Amino acid sequence: MVHELDTFFKPKTIAVVGASRDSRKIGHAALKNILISDYQCKLYPINPKEETILGLKCYKKISQVPGQIDLVLISVPAIIVPTILKDCVEKKVQNVIIISSGFGEVDNHELENELKEIIKKSKMRVLGPNVMGYKNASIGLDASFAYGTPRKGNVALISQSGALGIGMIYLANNEYMGVSKIIGVGNKIDIDDDDLIDYFAQDPDTKVIGLYVEAVKNGRKFMNSIKKCDKPVLVVKAGRSKAGARATASHTGSMAGSNEIYTAAIKQAGGIRCRDLVELFDMAKALTGQPPAQGNKIGIITNGGGLGILLTDACEETGLTIPKLSTKTYKEIDKILPDLIKPNNPVDLSADAGFFRYELATSALLEDPNIDGIIVASVHGGYARPEEFTGAILKMIRERKLHEAYKKPIIATWVGGREYEDLVIDLKAAGVPIYPSSWRTARAMFALYLEGERIKREKK
Ligand code: COA
Repeated sequence: MVHELDTFFKPKTIAVVGASRDSRKIGHAALKNILISDYQCKLYPINPKEETILGLKCYKKISQVPGQIDLVLISVPAIIVPTILKDCVEKKVQNVIIISSGFGEVDNHELENELKEIIKKSKMRVLGPNVMGYKNASIGLDASFAYGTPRKGNVALISQSGALGIGMIYLANNEYMGVSKIIGVGNKIDIDDDDLIDYFAQDPDTKVIGLYVEAVKNGRKFMNSIKKCDKPVLVVKAGRSKAGARATASHTGSMAGSNEIYTAAIKQAGGIRCRDLVELFDMAKALTGQPPAQGNKIGIITNGGGLGILLTDACEETGLTIPKLSTKTYKEIDKILPDLIKPNNPVDLSADAGFFRYELATSALLEDPNIDGIIVASVHGGYARPEEFTGAILKMIRERKLHEAYKKPIIATWVGGREYEDLVIDLKAAGVPIYPSSWRTARAMFALYLEGERIKREKK
């Protein structure tokens, strides 16, 4: 069945009201982004004074555009927006994005309510006001005024803050994390987080959904959409502190609500609450690249005892456990260790561990039914050879097909400097979830465990 937001994300006809020849204006940037998108659609600039903009024939009003319009972007001063919105209703436009600011977020609730009244009786879906628009990387359409092209991938990002949404694109690119769609929701007079979660739940290009939320308009609908969604939903809910809640009120004109209630409700709905965007990205990388963990028993492999202990503490504090090795695994790993070292969990391969020790230890843990997930760690100590560690990880993950039967996630941690970082970038580019901190690694593994639990609950 075609979702009602399908024409919103895949419009065949788009008009930009407030399109301008002036390259400093947002209406110019929005038109240009659509024009240069690798996407085929009819595009109409709307401006009462111009004949053509960026080589496109310009129309004075929405009503003059021939045929059906699937999506209108509005970038005119707030006071003119109600008139334009009425034109859109009259023209039976299907979807609208109101980029313009100057509504509830600056206490202009009267004007915002006027917009709500105008759209109340129509079937038109409206995003905003006070938004950047969206970038649909799955099909190559950029319906926003923001610079930046996300890598194509499987994480859908929803942001109540436009600037943060744009920042997320660059962060995602830096982390080699691919995005399916990224969308700003702003003041949410109509299209809300729950609508988008429902849409992304059935979007074949999306595997994981991540949200930055300041306030939820309808808590019940929001939680129900997370509950219904059979994909992981990661939520950064801002305004945790009293001062933070005050700041959300002046940002998008909304109430942050009780922090504890949000934490409990998101958990109950089956979502994962992340502390910040970096944690959201860490978890998203693990969830898109690795199978969920079938339980919380984790095996740790390291070439440095200290890093092994830090990871053990972080895992245990997070809610994971580090069980003792089975006799079979103990014997397997004992064969590859220097005489003076005895196998344990964390498995300390010792400072001079190379490719084969890493590879064989990982294989032994994959075989161990008492281990649900594996963390492979390396510290760039005196003897360590980063290429051998990263080579072993890459081999393990590249050969994932071979390991699919085990249904166990493998993620990695590293501690080192510049020369190590270059290799880590190669790993990230190959889709390997690798983190520079024991805590971040443990949290990413915890997300894989929670996802495994969610799937088990769903199957019951
Ligand atoms: N129909 C179509 N175009 C119209 C119009 C109408 N009824 N009335 C005016 N316009 C044209 C203007 O003439 C202008 O074109 P021009 O450059 O050829 O003169 C264009 O629309 C834009 O209007 P202008 O008055 O120049 O506004 P602006 O571009 O300086 O600012 C906004 C408009 C929407 C960008 C601004 O009001 C705003 O809200 N900025 C913040 C946006 C934002 O940050 N959003 C949230 C992001 S997260």
